[in-house]
Amino acid sequence: MRETWIVGAATNRFGRMAESAREAAARVALEAIDRAGLTPKDIDHTFVSNAFGMAEHQGHLGPLLNTALGIPEVPSCTIESACSSSSAGLHEAFVHVAGGFADAVLVVGAEKLSHLDTLTATSYFATGADFPFETRNGATFPGLYATLASAYRNAFPLPPETLAQVAIKNHANAALNPHAHFQKEISLETYLNSPIVASPFRLYDCCPFSDGASAIVVAAKEFVRRPTSTPLVVAASVRTGSIVDMHDRPDLWGLPASRRAGELAFRAAGLTPKEIDFLEVHDCFTIAELLALEDLGFYPRGAAGAATRDGETARKGRLPVNPSGGLKAKGHPVSATGVAQVVEVFEQMNGTAGARAVARTETALTHNVGATGGSCSVHIFRRG
Ligand SMILES: CC(C)(COP(=O)(O)OP(=O)(O)OC[C@H]1O[C@@H](n2cnc3c(N)ncnc32)[C@H](O)[C@@H]1OP(=O)(O)O)[C@@H](O)C(=O)NCCC(=O)NCCS
Repeated sequence: MRETWIVGAATNRFGRMAESAREAAARVALEAIDRAGLTPKDIDHTFVSNAFGMAEHQGHLGPLLNTALGIPEVPSCTIESACSSSSAGLHEAFVHVAGGFADAVLVVGAEKLSHLDTLTATSYFATGADFPFETRNGATFPGLYATLASAYRNAFPLPPETLAQVAIKNHANAALNPHAHFQKEISLETYLNSPIVASPFRLYDCCPFSDGASAIVVAAKEFVRRPTSTPLVVAASVRTGSIVDMHDRPDLWGLPASRRAGELAFRAAGLTPKEIDFLEVHDCFTIAELLALEDLGFYPRGAAGAATRDGETARKGRLPVNPSGGLKAKGHPVSATGVAQVVEVFEQMNGTAGARAVARTETALTHNVGATGGSCSVHIFRRG
């Protein structure tokens, strides 16, 4: 396999976009290519994700994006894997570059949903669950993740303020992030006074519906030779799957796809959790951050809550988790999320993360989940 690098990265501010997903995708793609010191003509292949293109009556985004970039002849493909769509795109790009099938691949994720009301957006998102067995019977993502939180709470200690601490930490990080949807801190009082969405979740346990776009350029070390930024070396790129239906899983104390992805990624990278400096994990709901930390082997089962309360996962803690603000507060424009996690690693490793910079940036891990864990991506990066 060829050594594979991330050589350029860009994202816009998540939240509400005036432009379409297609326009935003083209703009961030050009920024990422420019930051890589390349031109669109260097791109051999484009993977684009836009899971809810139906909200803008637009599919087949790849050739439209490549046409906007002036490279209509370049092959493209739309990758859909629910909330893990663009990290699945990164994995495909890795396979192409590491395997020698392409020298430089563009990976883009974009989503625009803010023009939909909450009910419509919720019903679109619910298409990521199993329609006959889950969605048709009223399940929504807040409800499904609340079920995971309840199961966890029945089996392991989860004092009431633990989930609040995840939200407070991630809002504090997002307050320092100019790309974030919510650039404001919240207090315990604000959290406790917010409405219940799906017990035990309150408003601040949930990620919002966000618009956003993000892009990265994945390239072979031998093709780039003299990078214009500090490249990220892709030390591991792993995709896994699992049973979609929660009622068919042996337990609900974590996500089987995350556990397996973590094991395989650490094995591929030749590293252990202790050797990771910081991470971006899939915190679509507060419980999901705790499950991820345990599934990936950073804490034993039942121990991530206490570590969070002790400040270990804070930006200045022993293991900074979601310095970007995470899905919870940076926002979750579904298809843009997986690549945006890598943009955060790129900015941290290049020293351009500004006020939200973490202390150690030699190694990082990103973890991106599709829906309730039917699919999962884990990537490990080393500073190049
Ligand atoms: C939590 C949720 C139900 C709130 O929706 P809502 O009640 O319709 O909220 P609104 O859009 O009317 O917003 C009301 C206020 O709350 C804020 N808000 C909305 N969602 C928020 C969130 N998740 N966290 C913090 N604040 C939020 C809005 O900015 C707005 O603030 P303002 O009054 O200061 O302008 C919705 O954001 C949601 O369903 N989130 C989960 C999305 C999801 O399932 N994603 C997939 C994950 S797998």
